[in-house]
Amino acid sequence: MPQSNIQTLSIIQPDDWHLHLRDGDVLQSTASQAAKQFRRAIIMPNLRPPVTTTEAAQQYRKRILDALPGNTNFEPLMTLYLTDNTPPEEIRKAKESGIVHGVKLYPAGATTNSDAGVTSLDRCIPTLEEMQKQGIPLLMHGEVTDPSIDIFDREAVFIDKVLIPLRKKLPDLKIVFEHITTKAAAEYVTEADGYIGATVTPHHLLFNRNSLFVGGIRPHYYCLPILKREENRQALLKAVTHKNSRFFAGTDSAPHAKGAKENACGCAGCYTASHAIELYVQAFEEVGELEKLEWFTSINGPKFYNLPVNRNKITLVKEEWKIPDELPFGHEKVIPLMAGESIHWKLK
Ligand code: NCD
Ligand code: ZN
Repeated sequence: MPQSNIQTLSIIQPDDWHLHLRDGDVLQSTASQAAKQFRRAIIMPNLRPPVTTTEAAQQYRKRILDALPGNTNFEPLMTLYLTDNTPPEEIRKAKESGIVHGVKLYPAGATTNSDAGVTSLDRCIPTLEEMQKQGIPLLMHGEVTDPSIDIFDREAVFIDKVLIPLRKKLPDLKIVFEHITTKAAAEYVTEADGYIGATVTPHHLLFNRNSLFVGGIRPHYYCLPILKREENRQALLKAVTHKNSRFFAGTDSAPHAKGAKENACGCAGCYTASHAIELYVQAFEEVGELEKLEWFTSINGPKFYNLPVNRNKITLVKEEWKIPDELPFGHEKVIPLMAGESIHWKLK
């Protein structure tokens, strides 16, 4: 369907089901930028030290709320960071608190601040059983960490080596396969039995791995899981625009200071919290599927998490604007994804 004539778009306000806000003096900018776009967000726990207890999640939540300007009703949905030693008792506390909405699995060594992560899921079975019982979802960074596996294959190998065996053992555990990047993951989530969902980032819908190397190495396009081949991007676009309620928006906006990205060993993560909705709109428009956007950004996620769908609407207008070259990040700067480039939609 040609969509060049669509000039305004009104949708239920989106939520972000995977967001890194960090901590300390950067919270003021990261949280207030996210709050301009989203009504709620699942807040990732990979701080230093990681958020491993309900008490730490409560304190982090308070720091986020304190950093927000007064005129916002943004709601941080907290998560715990799973370790080899998370006791089942902590899951019961998390459930009782009412503020913890998921437990995040970082395979140890998979990504930024994952060294305290899980070395073997077998060590976590009693805790995962308690999550299954309490209905708390496991949010998975779905990549194996074996350095002998090619970095572009780590997600697909994870499905066979970790995800399928785990789901056999715990068939009623709710799972979110986070920031999926491959055709293999999109097909697995579409076809699997039981309670599984997946988040998809704007950058994996808009870019393939060529973007990492346009005229030179492009650190601001480096994230984990890494951008993949075009056929994978096409499979993700197909999955999110299909009437399948298992896919929902999760920006994985992951800010790092400019100098930590533009570095001999640059950090992984793309910063999109300031313009993620516009990026998603652009991706859906590219494939002529704007009418499917609201399901992905605003309906499928709350249904998966058993939360109410937001009541308020937002409006986007077709208007060319330039993404800033840089944004404040505490005492430093962060470079947003597509810095300095034009984008065709603007959130009012
Ligand atoms: C994230 C970060 O920087 O915290 N980085 C990333 O590339 N996505 C961690 C993560 O979600 O893998
Ligand atoms: Zn992330």
